[in-house]
Amino acid sequence: MSPEAAVSVPGKAILLGEHAAVYGYPALVTAVDLRLTVTARVTGDGRITVDGSSEFRTGAMSAAEAMGFSGGAEAPGDRLAYLACGTALAHADAPGGTGLALRIASDIPPGAGLGSSAALSVGVVAAVFTALGLRVAAGTIAEVAKRVEARQHGRPSGVDVEAVLRGGTLWCRRTAEGTLACAPLSTAQAGLTRLELYHTGAPAESTGDMVASVGLLREREPRRVNAALASIEAATLAARDALAAGLDADRALLPLMARAEAALEALEVVPADVARAIRAIEAQGGAAKVSGAGGRAAGGGLVLVLPAPGGAATVPSQWKRLHARLGAPGLLEDVAA
Ligand code: PMV
Repeated sequence: MSPEAAVSVPGKAILLGEHAAVYGYPALVTAVDLRLTVTARVTGDGRITVDGSSEFRTGAMSAAEAMGFSGGAEAPGDRLAYLACGTALAHADAPGGTGLALRIASDIPPGAGLGSSAALSVGVVAAVFTALGLRVAAGTIAEVAKRVEARQHGRPSGVDVEAVLRGGTLWCRRTAEGTLACAPLSTAQAGLTRLELYHTGAPAESTGDMVASVGLLREREPRRVNAALASIEAATLAARDALAAGLDADRALLPLMARAEAALEALEVVPADVARAIRAIEAQGGAAKVSGAGGRAAGGGLVLVLPAPGGAATVPSQWKRLHARLGAPGLLEDVAA
């Protein structure tokens, strides 16, 4: 039997810079130690199976078809797994009869702004390459996973993929050439220890919907949206400096998180009940912000809370606390016989 590739990938949380990152502004993003694991084994039977059930025949699949593949499986996670698998096979120029058996397990709640789709894309792409016996650079995994993400939601900034692939806390910014450059911010850890993560409910809207709605708002009200994006950029730059200095970062982050949250509310990506709960946290002397794409009607996905210095934050009872270390290791790979 051919060897089994096993990989694990963390989730991610955007500390600052979501939505603005889509327009080339910088973002601070950290890997969250809730992990997704993928195992892949080459079967040679021309089929891709996910968890032994749904399947897709690879026999007649061209690279173009792999990129366009969007049928055959019921669950959205499976669909993305097939797309990632097909895209990796096409990139590797694997023969048509190459079959793969994938198994996927995840602790990352989907639709929670925790990068579950980026983790799935990176995990499947990396596992497929490893199962095929290919040693590829991290940059190639990122490039292929970003292609998969682009099919998911049109205009991804790429910060999710970089965060889950590389791990740690990253400072990401689009270069003049239009590529995303990310650098580790190794001193950030101290400033993140008091941050709390809450899942406020899965938004009805997808990330793609939220990115598109900000785009529409920008066409209708460019002044308001551009001012909000500039405010997010200023908060993100100041947070990077505070974290890089490693000094009293909790206190330094408080006003910056509040500023970014106000800008996200101006972008209309924070549901009213989530905004109300965040006002209450601010009234207690803390700060909180939506992390990720956010939502409109109900469920804001992930919210980061920084309790008042020396205090604790009171949050709505339906918010679910997620206990996970920030700045987690990125992609981990293993091959077993
Ligand atoms: O929904 P999430 O957590 O994957 O975050 C998306 C972040 C956005 O800035 C809204 C989009 C992007 O591609 O950066």
